[in-house]
Amino acid sequence: MVRTESRVPPTYVDGTRLWVDSRVRAFVQRRGEAAILRRLGGEVPGGTVLELGTGRRGTGLRLALDVFGAARAEGVDRHPGSVAACRAAVRDLGDRVEVRDGDATALDATAGSYDAVFGYHVLHHAEDWRAVVREAARVLRPGGRFYSCEMTARFVDSRLLRAVAFHPDDADRPAPESVAGACRDAGLTVLAQETRLAGCWTGLVATRP
Ligand SMILES: C[S@@+](CC[C@H](N)C(=O)[O-])C[C@H]1O[C@@H](n2cnc3c(N)ncnc32)[C@H](O)[C@@H]1O
Repeated sequence: MVRTESRVPPTYVDGTRLWVDSRVRAFVQRRGEAAILRRLGGEVPGGTVLELGTGRRGTGLRLALDVFGAARAEGVDRHPGSVAACRAAVRDLGDRVEVRDGDATALDATAGSYDAVFGYHVLHHAEDWRAVVREAARVLRPGGRFYSCEMTARFVDSRLLRAVAFHPDDADRPAPESVAGACRDAGLTVLAQETRLAGCWTGLVATRP
């Protein structure tokens, strides 16, 4: 969908980091999002998993071990500063985690490497989010699962959020239907999806047949 200038106002300040790096965000991710994703898709006991777009706090990597029961969690982020901060944040987890520079639209990993791939709010920050979904599908082993949660176009393009947070690409923002559709286009089968907050947030689990 193409949005016009009048519907998508400019960003005046970028407060994204204030929220993404906050303790409140980590609490919401653990108690809300991870709990929903685990209910939708189950655990990954003893598995090797990849998180796309870790951010600086490393909460998703910690959750992969604590909440989903993975044995090893790898993460990539495209910003070297975030990778360095994330490495420091998860140092206590030792060699069960590894954080690398990487572009989720073109991963180094070989096909079929992971039991699960996690993406917490990476799609609406990626320049080509459909390529991120394709890469997630490619690196999953058959039977592996893609866990995704996102703020949708409805919230990201709202006047309030646009005023205080920058996000790329106005024309093809993730929405509940389009995230599910992109999974299917990438060859995944959507197992479950839950959309909340009047369509502003969606969580989904899909599997590679
Ligand atoms: C909103 S933050 C989410 C951070 C964390 N996952 C969370 O939920 O709090 C989005 C993250 O995705 C990363 N990102 C965006 N596009 C990416 C890409 N193509 N490859 C890897 N990381 C990317 C950004 O650098 C940022 O750290």
